[in-house]
Amino acid sequence: MRIDSIELEGFRNYSHASAEFIPGVNVIIGDNAEGKTNLLEALYILCAGRSFRAKSDKELIGFTGSEARIRAEGFAGDRERLTEIVFRRLGRRSMLSNGVKLKSASELSENMSAVLFCPEDLGLIREGASARRRLMDAALCQLRPRYASALNLFGRAYEQKTRILRDSAEEPGLLELLDEYDEQLARLSAELIHYRAVFARRLGPEAARIHSDFSGGEELSVEYKTVGTIEDPTLPASELFPRIMEHQLSHRTAERASRLCLTGAHKDDLIIKINGADARSFASQGQARTAALSLKLAEREIHFSAMGEYPILLLDDVLSELDPGRQSFILNRIGGGQVFITCCEDDGVIAERTGGRVLTVKNGTIGGGEQCIST
Ligand SMILES: Nc1ncnc2c1ncn2[C@@H]1O[C@H](COP(=O)(O)OP(=O)(O)O)[C@@H](O)[C@H]1O
Ligand SMILES: [Mg+2]
Repeated sequence: MRIDSIELEGFRNYSHASAEFIPGVNVIIGDNAEGKTNLLEALYILCAGRSFRAKSDKELIGFTGSEARIRAEGFAGDRERLTEIVFRRLGRRSMLSNGVKLKSASELSENMSAVLFCPEDLGLIREGASARRRLMDAALCQLRPRYASALNLFGRAYEQKTRILRDSAEEPGLLELLDEYDEQLARLSAELIHYRAVFARRLGPEAARIHSDFSGGEELSVEYKTVGTIEDPTLPASELFPRIMEHQLSHRTAERASRLCLTGAHKDDLIIKINGADARSFASQGQARTAALSLKLAEREIHFSAMGEYPILLLDDVLSELDPGRQSFILNRIGGGQVFITCCEDDGVIAERTGGRVLTVKNGTIGGGEQCIST
């Protein structure tokens, strides 16, 4: 799959810009705050149907405008694809693929998918569990259409239940709603947990193979950790549900006392070990970075097996953070798919190493390679 060209109108700091891309490596160069990540964000939305950083569509619209438009030509699943997305300040977004209206954002990711790698991902191993849940969520929202909607509903149910627990001291009547939200949270947790467990079971061996190659034989393992009463999280959600309810019930007093949701998919983690030792506590910075790279490259392989094509890879400011050894490791591994790399002006050396085509982003315009036009 690939994106051949893009046109942005009223999207973040792009009032009107367009660019053409090559099927291999596209290097996007520019100073800080010129619009590099905004461009990657547009590319990610085309593939994943959602942004990796905006909480709502409205954020994507230029500060002074009323709508934002992304148009792109590409190729995926043996077909040319013309995709058009319009975000509106008043009203819902609309999406067209080859002129056909799409009903949900997940329909975009049925044809295309993307893996994003940004500097925060280099901390994937040593940071808190939310970084590792983000990795699972980003991949699964694209791989499983049901997952994205379950995750949305879960987020809402979690907020509601938290509010009930938090405010019930002042408003005891709220506690009447607790049973209902316990059940919702458990039902949605069960769905998320099933998908995450199946994903982690595939991610582990893939990441281990890549990590071993790069580190000269270190053993990496990935283990999915979830609600304590669940023995086999890969079981169907219907079988996980009573286990989560049981755990929730046994924590009810503690939840009321702490006013926090103590059980559910929001506490999940991936336990990553290197040569048998917990990497979060014991890995050196170098080992942790190699493991993070291995996990992201493994995510790319999983998309490949699901789609039969490599996903679009977006590397946002990440190469400049790596030493030359790890840069080569990643650059040697990303053949076969389209790649977008951002770096700042001073990183010309990196651009050369990639052998890719260079585009320059400046204050919301895209220029550079001969085929590029900016307006
Ligand atoms: N909705 C928006 N409307 C207009 N400008 C925006 C919007 N969102 C972000 N920006 C601007 O985009 C710039 C950041 O662009 P970004 O792509 O993150 O920069 P970088 O090139 O450093 O990756 C900032 O100047 C910010 O003010
Ligand atoms: Mg940026």
